[in-house]
Order: sequence, then C-alpha cells, then structure tokens
Amino acid sequence: KAQVQTEFFGKQFIYLEKIDSTNTYAKKIADSGAPEGTVVLAEEQRGGRGRLDRSFLSPFAQGLWFSLILRPSFSPMEVSKLTLMAAVAVTKALHRCGLTECGIKWPNDILVHDKKVVGILTELHASAEKINYVVMGIGINVSLTKKMLPRELKRIVTSFAMENVEALRADILKTVLEELEHYYISVSENGFAPIIEEWKVLSCMMNREVEVSAIDRIFKGKAVGLDEDGNLLVETNKGTERVLAGDVHVRPL
Ligand code: BTN
Repeated sequence: KAQVQTEFFGKQFIYLEKIDSTNTYAKKIADSGAPEGTVVLAEEQRGGRGRLDRSFLSPFAQGLWFSLILRPSFSPMEVSKLTLMAAVAVTKALHRCGLTECGIKWPNDILVHDKKVVGILTELHASAEKINYVVMGIGINVSLTKKMLPRELKRIVTSFAMENVEALRADILKTVLEELEHYYISVSENGFAPIIEEWKVLSCMMNREVEVSAIDRIFKGKAVGLDEDGNLLVETNKGTERVLAGDVHVRPL
C-alpha cells in the first residue's frame, strides 16, 4: 500500500477480495458508525452498480473499485454538487497520473477520447433536512483490456492500459484520495462556486453537440455551461434548457 498523504481520507481502510458492491458494504458500516474518510476497496465486485440502475463491470484486479464515506454538514440539496466535486478531483488526479487527455462528461463520468475510464456513484442517506452520510463510489479502469469487455462496451469503455498510459494502482489511489481530500476541505471553506468553474474547464462537453435523455423527453442541443446548482445548460432552438437529471450523450462531431 502506497503511503497516502492525507489527513483523514483512507486512514481507515478496508480491503476486500470480493464483494457485491463496495457502495453497499460502505453503507452497512456507515450505519454502524464508520468515521468520515473510511475507504472500502475491493479487488473484484460481483454486483458493481452504476447510475440509473446500470451495472458496473469490475473484474478482479483490473481497476480501482472503492467507496468513500463522507459525513458532510451541508444540506442534502448540495449533494449533487459533491458529485461534481468528485469528478473534478478525480480528473485532476488522473491528469497527474499521466492520463492527460481525460475530461468530465456531465454529471460525473470521466472520458478519454469519448470513452469512459471512470464512473462515480454518489449515494445519499439522509432525512428531509439533514445528511446522515454520503457514500461516494468510484470505479477507475486501470489494466482492463479490450478482450475483457463484452461486445456492447468495447466502443464506449477504456482504461489506462487501453490508452497506453502506465500507472500503478497504488499511485493512482493515493493521488485520487489526496485530490478528493483537498477539494473536500476547499468546499467546506469556500463553498462550491469555484468547483463549478473548474468543472467547466475540465469538462469534455462544453460547446459540443449533445443528446439529452431526460426523464420525460429526449432532445438535442449544444452544452454551454453549468448553473450554480450544477445543472447542465443546453442551448436548443427553443432556448436554453436546464438538465437536472438523466443521461447525456456526446454526439460525434
Ligand atoms: C456509473 O458509471 O454510472 C457509476 C459507476 C460507479 C462504480 C463504482 S465502483 C465502486 C463503487 N461500488 C459500486 O457498486 N459502484 C461504485
């Protein structure tokens, strides 16, 4: 295990060989009081979960599949911005690890050449007015090869190895935890506004044609920004639309 230069993220570290989902495991231990900053990492997930009820491929030792427990004091309304923060922090970390061309796809996938290298699933456990805890699940494809991917993923998934970038999992994890802690502290001191600005700079979507599948409709337009709540702004022929939830595809130009 590489030496992690963090104050509290990863100081409590749970390492598992095999689990259904580190997010589910983290939820269980958070319910019984695991402290903020606890990291649960598994070599393999049998039931890795993604956003919108999708599954997340997590084969043995081919990536970093882990969850971080947070106990933030801000309102549950702010949690979607925590997800944007995670995307910013992980993108910065990946740039530091040599994957210099990756960028964020709204809200929080990280892509290289339009293929996904990281997925983030933030799960909130809260009452109406107070956050109990947040589980931030991060999956980073490291040594995954094309051969391991089912047919439908070959065109849309990538990894450090597939991009010919060499990096050790331990170093990537250490860098990611450092960046996450840095940004988490900065949010508690300066709020989310600077993060929203950084998100735009690190995004691979700005000013590109996108197709949005929102809950009740599908439309096309140009991604032009983020509002202060982290909603995506898409310019269409009917004016500017705000995307609060759903899925966005970057269309090939
Ligand atoms: C997505 O692509 O929609 C999000 C994927 C999140 C995957 C990570 S891997 C660690 C953690 N445990 C899970 O079951 N999911 C997250």
